[in-house]
Amino acid sequence: MTEMNPATVYSDGDTDTNDTRQRSLESMAAERYSRRQALYRGAGATTMAFMGTSLLAACGEDDGATFGSGITVSAGSNVATSAGRVVTLNGTVEGNASTTTAPAWVQKSGPTVALTGSGTTVSFIAPAVAAATDLIFQFSAKPGFGDIKTAQTTVRVSPAVLGFTAVAHSLADIVAVPEGYSVTVMTRLGDPIAAGVSAYANDGTDGDFDKRIGDHHDALHFFGLSATGTPDRATSTRGLMVQNHENITQTYLHASGPSASPRPLAEALKEIECHGVSIVEYADAGSRKWSYVQGSSFNRRITPNTPMSFHGPAAGSAFLVTAHSPNGTAGRGTINNCANGVTGWNTNLTCEENYAGYFRRDAADDAKRTTAELDSLKRNGITSRTGNYGWSTASSTDDRFTRWNATITGASAAADFRYEPNQYGWVVEIDPYSPASTPRKRTALGRFGHEGAFVRVATGQKLGVYMGDDSRGEYLYKFVSTETWAAADADASDRLAVGDKYLDAGTLYVARFNADGTGAWLPLVYGSVPKRPASGGYSEYTFASQADICVNTRFAADAVGATPMDRPEWTVGNPVTGEIYLTLTNSDNTNRPYNGTNAANPRSYNDPKGASNTAQLGNPNGHIVRLREDGDTTSATTFKWDIYLFGADATDADPTNVNVSGLTVANDFSSPDGLNFSRATNPSGQINPLLWIETDDGALTDRTNCMLLAAIPGHVGDGGKVTITNTNGGTATQDTYVGAKATAANLRRFLVGPQQCEITGIDQTPDGRTLFVGIQHPGENGTYAAPGSHWPYTQDGSTPAATVRPRSALIAITKNDGGVIGL
Ligand code: FEO
Ligand code: CA
Ligand code: CA
Repeated sequence: MTEMNPATVYSDGDTDTNDTRQRSLESMAAERYSRRQALYRGAGATTMAFMGTSLLAACGEDDGATFGSGITVSAGSNVATSAGRVVTLNGTVEGNASTTTAPAWVQKSGPTVALTGSGTTVSFIAPAVAAATDLIFQFSAKPGFGDIKTAQTTVRVSPAVLGFTAVAHSLADIVAVPEGYSVTVMTRLGDPIAAGVSAYANDGTDGDFDKRIGDHHDALHFFGLSATGTPDRATSTRGLMVQNHENITQTYLHASGPSASPRPLAEALKEIECHGVSIVEYADAGSRKWSYVQGSSFNRRITPNTPMSFHGPAAGSAFLVTAHSPNGTAGRGTINNCANGVTGWNTNLTCEENYAGYFRRDAADDAKRTTAELDSLKRNGITSRTGNYGWSTASSTDDRFTRWNATITGASAAADFRYEPNQYGWVVEIDPYSPASTPRKRTALGRFGHEGAFVRVATGQKLGVYMGDDSRGEYLYKFVSTETWAAADADASDRLAVGDKYLDAGTLYVARFNADGTGAWLPLVYGSVPKRPASGGYSEYTFASQADICVNTRFAADAVGATPMDRPEWTVGNPVTGEIYLTLTNSDNTNRPYNGTNAANPRSYNDPKGASNTAQLGNPNGHIVRLREDGDTTSATTFKWDIYLFGADATDADPTNVNVSGLTVANDFSSPDGLNFSRATNPSGQINPLLWIETDDGALTDRTNCMLLAAIPGHVGDGGKVTITNTNGGTATQDTYVGAKATAANLRRFLVGPQQCEITGIDQTPDGRTLFVGIQHPGENGTYAAPGSHWPYTQDGSTPAATVRPRSALIAITKNDGGVIGL
């Protein structure tokens, strides 16, 4: 048909090829052919069929007039669309339709797509393409008498584009998404996941949080589940949702807010169990109608009290000995689980970030410690005299509570919890498909404020795990496995044993970003790491073993000269190019004064906030760095980098030195945190994959709540060298390397969250047609008496009573026409 009708008009947008108003040239040609057929009356059936076959394939035809069954089929007009959109093919039969049978569509050419539906109407998702590509489809039907009639149509697919209208700034108490999309609120704080557990009252009276969804939803991942309950990377209709619960909004957990210390045991236990990880079965009842399955045998809460084991160089070392773990191999629980990682063998990595603040250490402890221990405690932030929530005061005998006091009280490390803080700050591997399995703490990946752990698995290469340490002035790390990836391990049944193979032996590196746009990975290997020199209030630190380097990783990174960054948050890799993206959420003026920048953290400025123009100094809006490994290998020790995007307030930022990426009010953002590329299994993750950017912000919140943006990024080096002039308290210039500027085509705001939340945690189903997002701590600045938000009770447009408490929750976003999210 394309050849016969090259001038057919292409239309943009979602496509529907049913065009019954216009008869195609094909059907008109078919009529002419059918008149010719009268001349052949009496010819043998075989000849007719043959001729019919050859001619029908070329143009479609109708011999009905001759045989009295009289039908014409049409495949509709040619159409144009772009990758990821739904295309519906409507075939029509004109004439004796009542006697017509077997209407059907088949694909004749172009990248193969899966047709859903049957008969006259089928649909498919336009595939990823690098350039405009024609897909030809044939519609056929069999008349009451005579040969099958066919007609063809062409669908021209263009490369993926951001296919939604940008969501405006919003200060409303609702999740706003583009027109044409819907939000389903899924698992919320307190939702029961075990059978027989009551619905959440949300008035502070609930307990049993080891059987309920925790608080502060953070990183998440959808692990596909087959009909027989085994791992299935392809399914988009059933899975295990693994989500971190980073922290709590304490006021909403108790009937009248938290009691003062000494904390009631039940209150402390509730708060502890609200932390950790949840694993919950999700099911699609059809057409992306999602719900979670209470009572699924896969459902599990992992809390700070769940048994764990230590693996890698620090396992069994003196650093990890406690009264609960006298030989230093047993662990208990995980806490402040922030971002995540997913291995190539279907396990989940959860990352322990701000664990330090939960611990109490009394003033009298100092005199009992060595200088090295005191320096280690200080460098890792274990300095509180109470611990975040005073849990250690809840009991003097129950070590679920006394463990949060790291003060030396016993005769040896095995008699108290002096080293309990060393039990945290790790990457923890969880097998979500094995509810009884014991999570494993992977000490080879180092101990620090672990934000996330992006795992890059590439054929023929060693594993690369990229990890940010989220504190101001901290570093970016990479772990490279000793073992080279073996594809057979992807589907091994003992998944944690595969973790042992790749995550317990390897080399830990830290990044140095050079001023010329290159970078180096500096190995943190015992014997080659020098002593950390005395500086910054610390004495000289001498490493005693690789276990020491794993426990005191920040000291080792200091010693080799790593580059201090503006709070390294999530890491993620482009599934096509392998380039690694790292969010640097923000920095204050102390850590980033005008004369204290470096090439990879080049800005120091003021972003005035609110009607009073309150000063926000340093790098309050953050930026996103990306790097490309030399040789594109995970084990490279050098790389190239640039700054992909700079956060900024487009309304009041200096367009040259602050709003360097050229943001507008349609795509400006601040404090990037969560990151994810679309999966490589659908058009949004292929060829030029979509990058999803989430914010955890307090600087642009005079204009908008936190948000999620969708981007189609380019590549390292697509911008150039610029010189930024910083005038924050003085004047200094800083050269750096930046990516191509943002445009409406390559960066667009997709979602704005409710009041006082952060947007964090993101994944999609393999087909890209459901996007899962975490909404953390809505109303975090309120109290139980005067909540700071009522979300998610506002999501349906209703106005809840003034005392209705907000809840962190996971949401599922779908496109109303069933297309791929974002395209
Ligand atoms: Fe938990 Fe760095 O965010
Ligand atoms: Ca501002
Ligand atoms: Ca985060």
